[in-house]
Amino acid sequence: MEHTDFKKYIEENKDRFLSELFELLKIPSISSDSTQKAEIIRAAAYLKEKFEASGVDKAEICETSGNPIVYAEKIIDPSLPTVLIYGHYDVQPVDPIDLWDSPPFEPAIRDEKIYARGAADDKGQFYAHIKAFDAMSSLNSLFCNVKFMIEGEEEVGSENLGIFVAANKEKLAADVILISDTSMLSMDHPSITTGLKGLSYLEVEVTGPNRDLHSGTYGGAVGNPINILSKMIASLTDDNNCVTIPGFYDKVVELSEEERARIATAPFSEEAYKKELEVDALAGEAGYTALEQLGIRPTLDVNGIWGGYTGEGAKTVLPSKAYAKISMRLVPDQNSKEITKLFTDHFNAIAPPQVKVKVMPHHGGEPAVTPIDSIAYKAAENAYEEGWGKKPIPTRDGGSIPIVALFEKELGLNSILLGLGLDSDAIHSPNESFGVNNFLKGIETIILFHKHFALLSKG
Ligand code: BES
Ligand code: MN
Ligand code: MN
Repeated sequence: MEHTDFKKYIEENKDRFLSELFELLKIPSISSDSTQKAEIIRAAAYLKEKFEASGVDKAEICETSGNPIVYAEKIIDPSLPTVLIYGHYDVQPVDPIDLWDSPPFEPAIRDEKIYARGAADDKGQFYAHIKAFDAMSSLNSLFCNVKFMIEGEEEVGSENLGIFVAANKEKLAADVILISDTSMLSMDHPSITTGLKGLSYLEVEVTGPNRDLHSGTYGGAVGNPINILSKMIASLTDDNNCVTIPGFYDKVVELSEEERARIATAPFSEEAYKKELEVDALAGEAGYTALEQLGIRPTLDVNGIWGGYTGEGAKTVLPSKAYAKISMRLVPDQNSKEITKLFTDHFNAIAPPQVKVKVMPHHGGEPAVTPIDSIAYKAAENAYEEGWGKKPIPTRDGGSIPIVALFEKELGLNSILLGLGLDSDAIHSPNESFGVNNFLKGIETIILFHKHFALLSKG
């Protein structure tokens, strides 16, 4: 089978591929919203049906104590290598809804992009794998055995997937894990993600007086929890934008000059980056470039802060409580549990006597780095070289997919992060999109990966 035959199949079936993806995008499978549980179930059932129609040996819905995992496989020959594909069918919430130019669950194509919640993260990306399988299976040209595991809780921490993986090592046995849930540098510069950050996410509550007070009759004499929380948060980073939590950097692996020089070769323009975001200057830890901040340095960000009066007009109140949600993105060899503990101890230590603080950990995850000297990486490189005429650039991303570190720990397997999206896809934001061409070219690249992985595995 020539690659042009696959291209022809994709071209002939592209309307069907897109309409199948659209049906999936119409399902509002928001995992953080418990009122959408029925839609989660509907998405899982839809996938099972599509797997069956695409030619798998078996497809099943695996119940967990949370959202179901859809598993499917086709084993053509036990002596061939096995590729395990991971993706997630759950999506982020859609608010602020009024900033969408078309409804998030009514997919629409504009400027050759598919607009919908989940278009790039991750429905469009993993569906490309199902259609790559469809093409290989229909043309009787599978190169490898294939297993799929598509979960429904990635956006809320993948808690049940960890349990599922630990309990099903035999079923999930494979030679490599293939994931499309990241982005590439640009259509001109295909890239492969070789590092993801870990995550420590927590919420803090600062309590002052036992009730909201009049800000005139009590103000000044009684500590204001919002003023105090603001100072505490401000003190978490210093003038060089370094995190001040004692021990925070202790386990951070410093990169060699050689590795830093390699990162600097990635095509990235700080000017274009600033222009796109409409900011006049970039921030970040002194001594590191923007690309280094994003890829190899740990960070601390407030994700939300609230308390007191935020309604219309003014209300003179000295609030009883103030809150914030804080995330720290971690790099090797930081550990999310250790960092959460360091944060908690430090936050308690810096609280002045006017307030009491509570730190509540949310989900976390470990950082991951994948080798670039493996057969699988080489196969991915060859796939891009054949499909795009370019050698892909290895990049480290700032996002987190906690299951990647877990796959390595539980299954002893490395992942190949074959990101098909672009940073401009606006994942998690209003008007999320995914290029039609990213989808179709992605299908092609995935097929090439299977081909080269089988070839190189033969030795
Ligand atoms: N697909 C993203 C992660 C991602 C996006 C990695 C772009 C690299 C580039 C994933 O769905 C995600 O949003 N992960 C969360 C973490 C999760 C534990 C909620 C994140 O990174 O915030
Ligand atoms: Mn994702
Ligand atoms: Mn996401």
